[in-house]
Amino acid sequence: MQLCKVQRASAARSSRASRGQRVEVVCSSTAKFFVGGNWKCNGSVASVCKLVDELNAGTIPRGVDVVVAPPFIYIDYVMQHLDRDKYQLSAQNAWIGANGAFTGEVSAEQLTDFGVPWVILGHSERRSLCGESNEVVAKKTSHALAAGLGVIACIGETLDQRNSGSMFKILDAQMDALVAEVKDWTKVVLAYEPVWAIGTGVVASPEQAQEVHAYLRQYCAKKLGTAVADKLRIIYGGSVSDTNCKDLSKQEDIDGFLVGGASLKGATFVTICNAAGPKAQP
Ligand code: PGA
Repeated sequence: MQLCKVQRASAARSSRASRGQRVEVVCSSTAKFFVGGNWKCNGSVASVCKLVDELNAGTIPRGVDVVVAPPFIYIDYVMQHLDRDKYQLSAQNAWIGANGAFTGEVSAEQLTDFGVPWVILGHSERRSLCGESNEVVAKKTSHALAAGLGVIACIGETLDQRNSGSMFKILDAQMDALVAEVKDWTKVVLAYEPVWAIGTGVVASPEQAQEVHAYLRQYCAKKLGTAVADKLRIIYGGSVSDTNCKDLSKQEDIDGFLVGGASLKGATFVTICNAAGPKAQP
């Protein structure tokens, strides 16, 4: 278990102080390393079979949680064939409420009924392409948690927002909406995914990612208390690959990854799952 680190806090302090904002002591995470594979709307029967075989052939450290999120239509197959001693399953979306006349949707209750333990919510593609607001994402998150799911809740800024200096304001607004709805954070994994890094091959530098992760942990410490902030897994997503994962994972406040493109290649994804190094629990 890592304790609060005043030195790291002072590094965070100087980076934020330049923006004229107050910074307090930050706590690093004590929670299990977490790697999610977001397959998005990719795959065919043939490619999913192949990917499952590749994943089953991989070695995953016991001290790392690994969750894969196939498209809904392949979840049943993956559930039956993937080695679930190594991998857990996630959906990529869930409806905002319970079952009913909501054509084309899948509810959190249906996911738990089917034995799917996780869901990804608030992904930037759903925010930008499907118009999901901060409030909708927060309501979906609280409903999914109430239904018994674990939630990988995604937030992140666009390049314009970063370049114009409004990054922290945007992240605050995304977090404020979640904090207003979510009462119990034990089953939440927070995914910081800068929109400019998603699917672009332009990964955030370890320093850029660490700066935001430390900021988010500090935000959580302030709003939810240090006990919650210390245990919350804050994972990074956006062009994570088998070549950049090691350096990213060394950063104090990076507790894992949400991986898109690179999760479609079994061996590559397994390499990323093995990047936790000493952060993998014994
Ligand atoms: P990427 O996607 O790894 O392909 O950048 C990450 C994500 O969208 O979760």
